[in-house]
Amino acid sequence: MADTTLMDKLVSLCKRRGFVFQSSEIYGGLGSVWDYGPLGAALKKNLKDRWWHAMVQARDDIEGLDAAILMHPKVWEASGHVAGFTDPLVDCKHCKNRFRADDPRIKGTPGQPDAQCPVCGSRGTLTEPRLFNLMFKTFMGPVEDQAAIVYLRPETAQGIYVNYLNVLNSSRQKVPFGIAQIGKAFRNEITPGNFIFRTREFEQMEMQFFVKPGTDVEWFERWRAWRMEWCQGLGLTPAKLRFHQHGPDELAHYAKDAFDIQYEFPFGWQEIEGVHNRTDFDLGRHQQYSGKKLEYFDQAANERYLPYIVETSAGADRVTLTVMVDAYREESVEGETRVVLGFHPALAPIKAGVFPLVKKEGMPELATEVYQALKPRFPVFYDDSGAIGRRYRRMDEAGTPFCVTIDGETVANRTVTVRHRDSMKQDRVALDQLEAYLRDQLAL
Ligand code: GAP
Repeated sequence: MADTTLMDKLVSLCKRRGFVFQSSEIYGGLGSVWDYGPLGAALKKNLKDRWWHAMVQARDDIEGLDAAILMHPKVWEASGHVAGFTDPLVDCKHCKNRFRADDPRIKGTPGQPDAQCPVCGSRGTLTEPRLFNLMFKTFMGPVEDQAAIVYLRPETAQGIYVNYLNVLNSSRQKVPFGIAQIGKAFRNEITPGNFIFRTREFEQMEMQFFVKPGTDVEWFERWRAWRMEWCQGLGLTPAKLRFHQHGPDELAHYAKDAFDIQYEFPFGWQEIEGVHNRTDFDLGRHQQYSGKKLEYFDQAANERYLPYIVETSAGADRVTLTVMVDAYREESVEGETRVVLGFHPALAPIKAGVFPLVKKEGMPELATEVYQALKPRFPVFYDDSGAIGRRYRRMDEAGTPFCVTIDGETVANRTVTVRHRDSMKQDRVALDQLEAYLRDQLAL
């Protein structure tokens, strides 16, 4: 399968099956903003729940937080975003398109007569690069003036830094400890694209781990390994995951060291998560700009210091895309193509389909009984329309790991067939064992 075709097929499957829709589609869509349909919303939620479980619930040294999107404008001065969160932008005076100045499609030097617009082909119409800030601005209160400007946060991390002492004091944690949060972030990207890979509104799953200076390198290495393990645990193809260390020209202004976890997408190796050693840059800047002491007092050692921060930052939408790309496969079964999303069972939006083999002989009644019994336990889907083979295919496309069929034998001896999505193998299971069987197979 050619790689571009895979993305096209995935985008179309996402729309057809209700994973992802274009935002405001009936009005022609809004550039690089996407909505999640029923299956997509469940998939993304399962992913976020898995992250939250690993980062907050399963650990004693990380607390959860849900900070507001709007923050005091000084936060973004302190963080460096007002001055430095910029991309160099050029405009074509002829066709009015905009590009990043380093867009590889531009021939020549923007601002010079030889430069050629990659869209309309005009020469000498590209402006000199100017810095364009990626933060979305809005106004707070009724007056739309400079003093009322607030920003939609471009990362969730700053909500954690400004709350670090609140969390520390209210949770009675001690350094080393972390704060985790999942939330929306906004960036006015000049070159968004590749479906939900780079969008203007997205969700981040970020964790900031506060450590004693001098222990940061050790913690950085631990977090790097843990985060790769977590990505592998999503069932992603191991050979498609790798680390990429930032060279000096790639390091963000706050970072002493940074590794991306990259995945090999159809459009190349790309970052899905970053692990950064942010030193005491953030707390130092917030201390300076707010005038509030943010030092930690280490009682055991009787010393004060500004903790260093090791950050892990993943995009929920980007990892959702990764999971879908990795799960997509086409197989030939008895001369027909079956499309399968081979999700890890924990991520699958629907855990089991429940089907009466035919709509008679007491099967629909029994199937409804099975469906009603399973529904409070995990997401299940009832389907009695069309041939059984077609119902299996619909569940394969939705990534449902199991299908339970109620047939003549069920009526006779209260057993059902459970069909496995990946092997297509079928087991006969006693009705009173069904929930335990599925729970065991799903590893719930
Ligand atoms: N707090 C650090 C930070 O925000 P980043 O590398 O800019 O670091 C972290 O972003 C992660 O957020 C990325 O690895 C990616 O998964 C996700 N992300 C960033 N920009 C995005 C965008 N425009 N659309 C979707 N996801 C994005």
